[in-house]
Amino acid sequence: MKKQDEFGRRRRQLMKDIGRDGIAILPAAPVRHRNGDVHYEYRQDSDFWYLTGFGEPEAVAVLIPHRPQGEYVLFCRERDPERERWDGSRAGTQGAVKRHGADDAFPIGDIDEILPGLLESRGRVFYTMGLHHEFDQRVIGWVNGLRAQAKHGLHTPQEFVALDHLLHDMRLYKSRPELDTMRRAAQIAVAAHRRAMRRARPGAFEYEVAAEIVHEFHRNRAGPSYQPIVGGGNNACVLHYVENSAELEDGDLLLIDAGCEYDYYASDITRTFPVNGRYTPAQRAVYEVVLEAQLAAIDRCRPGHHWNEPHDAAVKAVTHGLVHLGLLKGKVPKLVKEGAFRRFFMHKTGHWLGMDVHDVGDYKVGDEWRVLEPGMVLTVEPGIYVPKGTKGVPKEFQGIGIRIEDDVAVTRGEPDVLTGELEKHPDAIEAWMQAA
Ligand code: GLY
Ligand code: MN
Ligand code: MN
Repeated sequence: MKKQDEFGRRRRQLMKDIGRDGIAILPAAPVRHRNGDVHYEYRQDSDFWYLTGFGEPEAVAVLIPHRPQGEYVLFCRERDPERERWDGSRAGTQGAVKRHGADDAFPIGDIDEILPGLLESRGRVFYTMGLHHEFDQRVIGWVNGLRAQAKHGLHTPQEFVALDHLLHDMRLYKSRPELDTMRRAAQIAVAAHRRAMRRARPGAFEYEVAAEIVHEFHRNRAGPSYQPIVGGGNNACVLHYVENSAELEDGDLLLIDAGCEYDYYASDITRTFPVNGRYTPAQRAVYEVVLEAQLAAIDRCRPGHHWNEPHDAAVKAVTHGLVHLGLLKGKVPKLVKEGAFRRFFMHKTGHWLGMDVHDVGDYKVGDEWRVLEPGMVLTVEPGIYVPKGTKGVPKEFQGIGIRIEDDVAVTRGEPDVLTGELEKHPDAIEAWMQAA
């Protein structure tokens, strides 16, 4: 399927939901200033990209179902040879129509004159409030301007409707082309983790290992989907450790949580392996508990199971394992009920994954957990963390932080582990590291 067809299909689906009386307005992501004349790397807003495939800033997409002169209007920057010499090429209004599927396109500078006319005959404005504050004010201004003229008999918008609610439900179900892209993002991250496993050794620094990962992303036309976490020894117990500055020590584990974004889709993988290539008995014992929990959770990623079932399975396995290791004392069902595991496993077992690493989509419908369906993609990432100095814990377990994370697509059949090629069993990891 051509990519343009996919964007068009999404616009048509959304317009069906919006109906004849509605209009949807989406701004492109703003350029974000870093310092001096420097900006952060530009990344299009995920919702905007999902519907348009248009990667430029200073653009606004408008969808107006059943408008005879065209349903998809794109406001964008005009061509400008002088500016393009500095900043690179632009599609311009002609390119927006010819190459990006817009029915009509206007210069972004003309939006104040044109947009009120598009709003005029519509009752409901579908818009995501609160995301782009400056743009919120402009949308309110256009609508209020029309309302002020309502006494002249104009039909004006009466209602704002949360666009993200509709759109995010669409984004939760990944199409075949989206799954193909996510599989590629997963493969690139698998290669990056393999490379990191072979680069790590006592005396190397966390940032050197991080550099290997990022190198592998970039050589595959991808970039980090979030700041990589490369935590040796006790640093692995800091859940969002991104400093990546310490020297790796013989006898420690290294936890790497790193994924890439490829063509707007994210992967998100964690592996934990021994810096010197061999797990100690204590490390291996904890690792096997996390692995068992992760496999049990993955097995729950099937249609008809609800969102929290993988987490429940992981919690049960982790609690059972912690009792077995002597880190918790008592009966498993009671400890689960009391939440005793939270001392060592304090996060949830996963999140939706897609264009955003923590992707959009509701986890509950009303008061009930969402039921998993084919096309949904989630991460499965239980962990056990025993920081140094944890009271009542034998020395050999202290300074161990282990998480194992894979990306799983729900299918009609078996869970499809997109990142499943990456070594995960301790023997396989040791073998991979030794073959270096
Ligand atoms: N890397 C962020 C997460 O695992 O949720
Ligand atoms: Mn994750
Ligand atoms: Mn992660």
